[in-house]
Amino acid sequence: MTDNDETAPAAPTQVRRRDVLKATAATGAAAAAAPLLAGAAPAQAQSREREPAAAGALPVVLRINGAEHRLQLDPRTTLLDALREHLHLTGAKKGCGLGQCGACTVLMDGQRVKSCLSLAALAEGREVTTIEGLAQGEQLHPLQAAFIERDAFQCGYCTSGQIMAGVACIAEGHAGSPQEIRDWMSGNLCRCGAYDHIVLAIQDAAGRRQGG
Ligand code: FES
Ligand code: FES
Repeated sequence: MTDNDETAPAAPTQVRRRDVLKATAATGAAAAAAPLLAGAAPAQAQSREREPAAAGALPVVLRINGAEHRLQLDPRTTLLDALREHLHLTGAKKGCGLGQCGACTVLMDGQRVKSCLSLAALAEGREVTTIEGLAQGEQLHPLQAAFIERDAFQCGYCTSGQIMAGVACIAEGHAGSPQEIRDWMSGNLCRCGAYDHIVLAIQDAAGRRQGG
């Protein structure tokens, strides 16, 4: 990295990757924040301008479920924390915070990502979809409906991540057989053992998609 790189102006709406990486490297891993589990405000999909944050905050524009949100974020903020703590979209859950459980799965440009491992600033310019953006008004996404019909959730904590991963699994064409579904859903853990029902729900939704 040259001196010129350090002083070059950033594109107005694009966070510089190196700013994020520099800030993260300077302070080590992002501190874990307590997940907001109870009493969370309902999903607020409207666009909003946040109050300026502490010195060093980066202006970040996130597009979530079709709505634009302008935030001032610590460069180390994960996408999961931006969703849950700044935008009060609490459908994505913080399970392990380490990329191992899949509870935080969201879609970015249609592809599944573990939002606990994704920096919010690097989601700028991408289309992020959370479980809150899956239904069309009152009409559930076919996989949401199939989860209900197949009783594919028990604790509910991992369910949104399972559904988001399942949506991607179907879209990727990886729902051709129970074993294929299990393979491609292996990044999402269900400690209570609802796997059989989850596989059935994904099969159902994939079949409905093929059947039009
Ligand atoms: S919370 Fe992200 S993978 Fe577990
Ligand atoms: S439904 Fe959450 S661990 Fe099984």
